[in-house]
Amino acid sequence: MPFYQRLGEVPRKRHIQFRENGSLLVEEVMGLEGFSGLESILYHLVSPCRIKELGDFEPIEREEWVPDTHAHRHMRTMGVDAAGDPVTGRRLLMWNSDVEISLCRPESEMDYFFRNGEGDEVIFVHEGSGTLETIFGDVPYRAGDYVVVPRGTTYRFVPQGPQRYLVFETPGLIQIPKRYRNEHGQLMEHAPYYHRDIHPPAELRTHRERGEFRVKVRVRDGYQTYLLDYHPFDVVGWDGYVYPWTFNIEDFEPITGRIHMPPPSHQTFAGPNFVICSFCPRKLDFDPLAIPIPYHHSNLQSEEMIYYVSGNFGSRRGIEVGSVTLHPSGLPHGPHPGLAERSIGMTETHELAVMCDTFRPLKLSKLAKELDDGKYAYSWYDEPAPAGDADQDPAGVTSHL
Ligand SMILES: [Fe+2]
Repeated sequence: MPFYQRLGEVPRKRHIQFRENGSLLVEEVMGLEGFSGLESILYHLVSPCRIKELGDFEPIEREEWVPDTHAHRHMRTMGVDAAGDPVTGRRLLMWNSDVEISLCRPESEMDYFFRNGEGDEVIFVHEGSGTLETIFGDVPYRAGDYVVVPRGTTYRFVPQGPQRYLVFETPGLIQIPKRYRNEHGQLMEHAPYYHRDIHPPAELRTHRERGEFRVKVRVRDGYQTYLLDYHPFDVVGWDGYVYPWTFNIEDFEPITGRIHMPPPSHQTFAGPNFVICSFCPRKLDFDPLAIPIPYHHSNLQSEEMIYYVSGNFGSRRGIEVGSVTLHPSGLPHGPHPGLAERSIGMTETHELAVMCDTFRPLKLSKLAKELDDGKYAYSWYDEPAPAGDADQDPAGVTSHL
């Protein structure tokens, strides 16, 4: 999506004869918005329509938790059980009609291929590395990568070592914010990343094996399995603007100011009615009178989910690596009592976090209930905490509350 790419062999012009050993190859235009949006053109050995057998359809079931109270929430996710594979192991945490946010700690590898037929995906790799094998070629990934997978991409994770992901799935398009690009699509000088930070498929390997291959496709709010008699990565070449890519959070160039910069300065991706932002280690606000942590804010028309990736959270009791906070709409939030004063004179932060702000309310899953600490809503209450509840007294500073 970020810029034109080409891998493997493609004919001199589109829609003309293209043969291998005398046989016509099968041209597929994979395009968005009918024939008006971005597209890639792929050349297959076998018709992509060919299936040997229709498998089962499994509807997606979401178990909602409707809390008794509307409040700020904190969930600890590091201890979530490893389960499933990089697709079946996604455990829904919160969602609305624009985005689903899941945790994933896969314990097994995929013995099938997957394609999201109804949405784009961003997989934030918190831990682990490996290769996302795709119909467009191999996409190596490592910790800190956002793996962006456009709808229609057949893929399979080949992980190396233990993995932990935060997964965003949307029925809309994942885009680079428009304000970062000029009218020709190039990322402008003020954008926090550049084309060189974006890594498209590195190598195309054309598979010619025959046999039995399962492809699971997310479609119509469920998973439909198909059995093929050929390897689905049968592409000899492709070109265009639609393909999977990675961007590492450490390549995000933080934007800082003399006084506090607002959250949109951390924006990394745009989705329909939501944004994904990266809070990266950076120098803090440098005006002599600056307060380096945020002012209180009422995000009246949005919900704010933050996933804490790494950094020194030990100084702030309660928030740890893998913590998720949710500041829902309708409520103000901001630094804990005393922290604005304590932050004065701080010159830098080493925290790393991923934030998703949605404009529409988020529903919570039963997993969110299991992980909810039930106490975070009281953490702005600075009276002495009751005995045995000492961890309600925040003692440190985070820079992006
Ligand atoms: Fe906020």
